[in-house]
Amino acid sequence: VSLFGVFVALLLLHLLHSTFSSQNRPEPPGPRPLPVFGNLFQVDLKRLDQSLFNLSKKYGPVFQVYFGPKKVVVLAGYRTVKEALVNQADEFGDRDICPLFYDLNQEYGILFSNGDSWKEMRRFALSALRDFGMGRKMSEEIIIEECGYLIKEFEQFEGEAFDNTQAINYATSNVISALMFGKRFEYKDPVFQTMVERDNETIHLMGTASLVIYNMIPWMGPFLKNWTDLMKNMENNKADIRKIIADLKQTLDPETCRCFIDAFLIRKNQLEDLEMKSSHYRDENLLYSVINLFAAGTDTTATTLKWSLLYMVRFPQIQDRVQEELSRVVGSRQVRIEDRKNLPYTDAVIHEIQRLANIVPMALPHATSKDITLQGHLIKEGTTVFPLLTSVLYDESEWESPHSFNPSHFLDDEGKFIRRDAFMPFSAGRRACLGESLAKMELFLFFASLLQHFQFTPPPEVSEDELDLKPVVGLTLAPKPQKLCAVCRL
Ligand code: HEM
Repeated sequence: VSLFGVFVALLLLHLLHSTFSSQNRPEPPGPRPLPVFGNLFQVDLKRLDQSLFNLSKKYGPVFQVYFGPKKVVVLAGYRTVKEALVNQADEFGDRDICPLFYDLNQEYGILFSNGDSWKEMRRFALSALRDFGMGRKMSEEIIIEECGYLIKEFEQFEGEAFDNTQAINYATSNVISALMFGKRFEYKDPVFQTMVERDNETIHLMGTASLVIYNMIPWMGPFLKNWTDLMKNMENNKADIRKIIADLKQTLDPETCRCFIDAFLIRKNQLEDLEMKSSHYRDENLLYSVINLFAAGTDTTATTLKWSLLYMVRFPQIQDRVQEELSRVVGSRQVRIEDRKNLPYTDAVIHEIQRLANIVPMALPHATSKDITLQGHLIKEGTTVFPLLTSVLYDESEWESPHSFNPSHFLDDEGKFIRRDAFMPFSAGRRACLGESLAKMELFLFFASLLQHFQFTPPPEVSEDELDLKPVVGLTLAPKPQKLCAVCRL
């Protein structure tokens, strides 16, 4: 009897414990999902970040939505995103490898990989980029040289209205090319033009609604034009990069490292000499890391620069103040990174551009690496998580006027530049943008150099209020291509 009694008591205890623990740690709230479709009809796939932001006002900072059968936990607001990505960095630091990400990179490279391979590739990329420049003079020199080419390109229009999209794409692609391949390309080079256009199309295709559907029903892939186009793009991209790698391999000299690819090949050879067979330095990781750095590093920076010129045209008084500061502090000589500390207004304007433009509104999807409790809610291991950067950059409890262009967000009463913790366009934590330092350098040097040289205005027949500031929505939020005038100041 006593043994039976102990057994019953244990069973009761277990039942009580599980009832209480699941009551204490309920799953996050969220709109009731429909069978098969989940919450697809309650969100606007064309502006998903906005509609999730609206849902967070009803369901709170941690809530869940279903995209078909797939559950996603959304994190909203600065406090919550920081609590998860920074304070519980390991638990929220995996990438969610959805079918599309798997098709693109087969879990190699940096963007769409996890585990030891990701850790090693990310660490290598950070140190390799730092050695060629992020921390050193060299990337500053690369960017400054490219500023010169971009300015020449703009000058050709002699103040007439033109669409700056291509030229800016070429300029930022050339900075990554110089770091990855050790060389820049002429803007007129057809091979380069195709590579850059393919890259932009890839980013655009990845953000289309039909690929959200593909992730829910992967067997539909071959019937979806956007998916087949994307796969074709990826194959062509791989062929181009493989050729560049093969050319660099032929002339590789272990004593002179010219670029990222060289650094990888040298490390690979060293490990092979040591007969380290299980190394992550494999051809696939090189190929996909280069593709990732190109894709992640060009469109993002170019898109931010395009927003920056559009905002300056839309807010001419702010453009005037930036130019006044540049003239006073730098004059007509080449602006350099070390000038930034003496240009607080220009710095604040660049930060405000990044905040308001919010170009990567949902970061990239994360996944939980174990069962975890956040603000009392249980999130199971392997759950997809969206850190909603829109809700951080527009958080009403963090920003005085979240929806207007206001450089004072980054200035104190004396006009000195101030850092703001809720400034998170590069996300945060373990998966935070790997190119943040490089991107910041590029944004500062390109923006300041362009504003030193040109007054940006709308085309003669268009007023500032008529400029279209609504974004084109893809994986990033980009400005609509539109013509602006660049009138020489110097
Ligand atoms: C990831 C933003 C420029 C390389 C990301 C993420 C964001 C972001 C939001 C996702 C972070 C997450 O999942 O939580 C930006 C912005 C840029 C920029 C706004 C420019 C204004 C660059 C540049 C490079 C780069 C120049 C390369 C040199 C990467 C890589 C990742 C990443 C490799 C993936 C990191 C990982 O998964 O571990 N970026 N980025 N980005 N970015 Fe950037």
